[in-house]
Amino acid sequence: MTESYDKPKALGGKSKPYRKQKPRGAKPAKNGCVKPESGKGVRQREDTAEAVITGFSPKQPFGIGAVLSPVPAVIVSCGSVEAPNAMTAAWTGTVNTIPPKLYISLRKERYSYEIIKATGEFVVNLTTRELVRAADYLGVRSGRNEDKLSNLGLSVSPSPKLGAPMLDKSPVSIECRVDKIIPLGSHDMFIADIVGVNVSPELIDESGRLRLDRAGLIAYCHGEYYALGEKLGSFGYSVRKKQHGHGKKIK
Ligand SMILES: Cc1cc2nc3c(=O)[nH]c(=O)nc-3n(C[C@H](O)[C@H](O)[C@H](O)COP(=O)(O)O)c2cc1C
Repeated sequence: MTESYDKPKALGGKSKPYRKQKPRGAKPAKNGCVKPESGKGVRQREDTAEAVITGFSPKQPFGIGAVLSPVPAVIVSCGSVEAPNAMTAAWTGTVNTIPPKLYISLRKERYSYEIIKATGEFVVNLTTRELVRAADYLGVRSGRNEDKLSNLGLSVSPSPKLGAPMLDKSPVSIECRVDKIIPLGSHDMFIADIVGVNVSPELIDESGRLRLDRAGLIAYCHGEYYALGEKLGSFGYSVRKKQHGHGKKIK
């Protein structure tokens, strides 16, 4: 089974999670890019926008694995305000709009798995730049052995609809009630109903619009965390009529 937070050898990781591996020959480099022997045409670790490859040669098979990228790396809080726990999850996403549903996929050995299975509740807290180090920590240490949130100095608050707490430092906390658990293999998929969305007022503009662009959200890509940055377009912009001057539409 392949996970980019627990990468198999073929995809640039070791069978043991979180260990670094020296790139060899034509194997994937640490930055997730395939490094040909010549090293030519490769985005270097400095990660400058200029160094991104723009033209690609025909593809070659590269094993089988969970390489879909980028994905979120959210902080899942669970338990209660008195006894909270949190872990990081990259295997998460929206699965339905009406009614709104999302999933998280968890390995059975996670401490959070036990809690969420027993309570049927969890909160997905979006990760910001400010929280990224904490997210990493919450993803490599277990609440079975320590009070991770206290050790990180992170506080939680009661959720309006659930017993599972919200993480105060995250500006968006999504309350989820488990609907179905689907065993898939390495992970069980928890499909949940979104029963509440809680947003810090700084992210709601004068017209009541949610401004996630102001949140400093992060993404996770093949073992590395990235800040979301440059906006490239907006939904439907490819077919929208061109605008001139002061945003006036040309009919
Ligand atoms: C970026 C990142 C993403 C992760 N994604 C998942 C995931 O989707 N599912 C999972 O079961 N574990 C995932 N993990 C591993 C858990 O977060 C980790 O095992 C954690 O220690 C579990 O905490 P707990 O035992 O307190 O529940 C991820 C770890 C990191 C660093």
